[in-house]
Amino acid sequence: MKNKKIFITGSSGQSGREIAKLLAKEYEIVGFDKIQGASTTIVADLTDWETIKNATKGVSAIIHTASLHAPHVATHSREDFINTNIKGTLYLLEASKINGVKKFVYTSTTSLYGESMNIEKEAAWITEEVVPKPRDIYDITKITAEELCKDFFDKETFQAISLRVSRFWEEPPENKVFYRMYRGLDIRDVARAHELALKAEMDNFEVFNVSAQSIFNQDDLFDLKNNLHALLNSRIPKLVDFFDKNGWELPTSIDRVYVIEKAKKVLNYQPVFNIDEMLSEF
Ligand SMILES: NC(=O)c1ccc[n+]([C@@H]2O[C@H](COP(=O)([O-])OP(=O)(O)OC[C@H]3O[C@@H](n4cnc5c(N)ncnc54)[C@H](O)[C@@H]3O)[C@@H](O)[C@H]2O)c1
Repeated sequence: MKNKKIFITGSSGQSGREIAKLLAKEYEIVGFDKIQGASTTIVADLTDWETIKNATKGVSAIIHTASLHAPHVATHSREDFINTNIKGTLYLLEASKINGVKKFVYTSTTSLYGESMNIEKEAAWITEEVVPKPRDIYDITKITAEELCKDFFDKETFQAISLRVSRFWEEPPENKVFYRMYRGLDIRDVARAHELALKAEMDNFEVFNVSAQSIFNQDDLFDLKNNLHALLNSRIPKLVDFFDKNGWELPTSIDRVYVIEKAKKVLNYQPVFNIDEMLSEF
């Protein structure tokens, strides 16, 4: 019998349903979303305090993926972002405290590094040490939600952890392939990272970059920005051929690399679906 109940928000969304599918083998899942979905058991809004408070009774852990995100900046107000991303997170944290939930996994974003990713002369090497410089209301609300998680970890009796996940949404294949080298990942690796975070024992609130394994290193930063085609021709000629074969135009520059060493070391995160696997899947 599955004796631990995991509450997953955003369970009708891309990452939430993949996480629910993975964890259902081991845990009882309560899926929470404002829209219906195969993994969703409670249809309600994050800002409905009474429902959140009651639905999280008897829950061991919360995985909080529900969010307005980058594309919604064009369609939703700042107030909508504050309500869903900040107030919604606060309600879940308050409910965790009241109901004795032991673990809170927050799905954050690499987007919050914002302006810190703009370096004129070379590509930016983005570790968790880089200071976030939010560019819009999405970034602002995600960093604030992380700060709330930290505040509850520091002052209450449960652990919170944040995964700064890179890009995994559906987009044209040439983007997916290109980004997989330095700033994107497969949804199955997203789910696996959440499972590892759920099981990790933490002494402090920590944030982790989660992305595919980049094929670049710090010595490449100048060439990534200024001399990309030569670098790709020597590092990964099969990708250049692949773009050529498909008639896709190869971008001329890369502006950042997401570094996942901390997640590998502390969480034992090992992304499976990296650029080599992706090219061989096509
Ligand atoms: N998709 C990406 O490429 C990407 C990249 C980096 C970070 N992230 C982060 O990952 C998380 C999940 O992203 P996704 O792509 O799976 O999102 P998604 O849009 O596919 O799913 C989000 C789900 O949350 C639900 N939701 C939104 N507001 C809600 C509310 N107020 N109450 C209840 N449910 C609500 C939506 O109905 C949706 O089903 C987000 O926190 C996002 O910031 C996503």
